[in-house]
Formats: sequence, C-alpha cells, structure tokens
Amino acid sequence: MRRRAASGFQVKERMTVTTKVDPHPRGLKLRARALDPEKDGYLLVAAKFGDAPWDLEVEEHLRLKARDFERRHVCFTTIFLHPDRDELIGFYSLNSHTLELTDKFRQEFEMSKRQAPGLNLEVEVCYVVAFGVKVDWKDKGYAKQMYAHLVAALVNGEWRPPFVYLKVWRDNSDGAWFWDHMEFQNFDEETDTLSTDHEKPKPQRVRLLMAARIRD
Ligand SMILES: CC(C)(COP(=O)(O)OP(=O)(O)OC[C@H]1O[C@@H](n2cnc3c(N)ncnc32)[C@H](O)[C@@H]1OP(=O)(O)O)[C@@H](O)C(=O)NCCC(=O)NCCS
Repeated sequence: MRRRAASGFQVKERMTVTTKVDPHPRGLKLRARALDPEKDGYLLVAAKFGDAPWDLEVEEHLRLKARDFERRHVCFTTIFLHPDRDELIGFYSLNSHTLELTDKFRQEFEMSKRQAPGLNLEVEVCYVVAFGVKVDWKDKGYAKQMYAHLVAALVNGEWRPPFVYLKVWRDNSDGAWFWDHMEFQNFDEETDTLSTDHEKPKPQRVRLLMAARIRD
C-alpha cells in the first residue's frame, strides 16, 4: 500500500497541470447598454447566430438594420457585452405596438369582453422585434438573463405595457421552446415567407404569435 501511494505521489508531482479556460463560460453577469448607432458598428461585425434562416434573419437585423432603426426611432436595441471585454454576446430590439384584442387573445389571457363592452379593443404591448444570443454563447443561460433584464426594465421603467409580444417561426424550435419556457402563450399564428430563405419560390412558413403578461 505504501509503495503504491508513494509512486502515485511521484507521478502527480511530475505531471504538468494544464487548466483549459473555457472562452465561453456560463454564469457571467453581462453588461447591458443601449446600442450606439454611431460607435458600435465594430461590435456587430462578428455577430453570428447560426446557419438556419431564422438565425440569419436575426443576424441581418442586427448587422444591417438595427443602427438605422435606432437613428430613425423605428426600434430600440439593447446590447449585452462580456463583463471584461468588448464582445457582444446577445441583444434585443424593442418597440411599442398596438395589438388588437381578438377573441383568441382574450381567450388565451382570460380577458372578459363583458368587463368593458365596446371598449378595450386594443392593448399597448412591448413588441420584441428581434432577440438573439451569439452562436458560441447559446445554451448557457444568457437568453434567460437578457429576458429577465427586459422584464425588469418594463416593470420598473416609465413605460409599463402589460404584455410582451413577439412572433417566432414555428420551424425555429429553439426559439419557440425558449419563449414557451419563459411562459409565453401562443395565441394565434400567421403564414409568411422568410427573407433569408434561399429556396425559390420562398416557402410559406408558419409564424407563431406569442405573448406574456407581465403585469395586470
Ligand atoms: C432562442 C435563443 C435566444 C435561446 O438562447 P440561449 O442562450 O441558448 O437560451 P438559454 O441558455 O438562456 O436557455 C434558457 C432556458 O430555455 C430553455 N431552452 C432553450 N432552448 C430550448 C429548447 N430548444 N428546448 C427546450 N428548452 C429550451 C433552456 O433549457 C433554459 O431553461 P433552464 O434554465 O430552465 O434550463 C437562441 O437559441 C438564439 O439566439 N437563437 C437564434 C435567434 C432566435 O431564434 N431568436 C428568437 C427568435 S424570436
């Protein structure tokens, strides 16, 4: 026994210990700030979200449209950066939207028509125009962190819409599952084509309309 223990000790002493640093670790507290359309272009160049058409749509939004939309106040983008270096990890773009209170919507959210007949035909919502986590940083809890930031901003800010609303392609199972996991309800759907689909003619795809109530 003593010999085995002694030789084991020697082997350990001779070993070179190499600890691999994960370049994309979990658990970072990301820095969040508004996109600066004049200065942040360099942060967006390397933003890759994946190869599926819906990933490319999100990438196209961020790289080609978000800064122009920010300047024109079409929508507002919050970027999430690595705590120690200027690397973008994720983002969301939001705007204010008025949603028709359809029967399907009322049913899903148990809103009675009788409460105010003839009134309340529409509701102001926070519309998530685009939302994404860079491909190397997926599955590490960062989308959840970003969504918690979004809700906190809406609950504590001056603008307090009761619902968050978005559209997600049904074929984008990661996206649809993520929003389902964040307790979004699928109250309707629509059919449309996707600009980043390269097949000709572009296939018709189903897009799920989802919303979450964040306050009464
Ligand atoms: C969808 C997307 C935002 C998810 O980002 P992510 O950083 O990988 O998600 P997270 O790691 O924060 O996951 C959060 C939770 O959702 C769950 N989740 C994520 N993807 C899931 C999936 N495909 N199926 C089931 N649950 C899933 C996770 O299990 C996790 O829950 P837990 O913490 O309770 O385990 C990301 O894949 C993405 O950016 N995709 C490309 C763009 C896109 O599709 N955007 C949304 C379109 S509206």
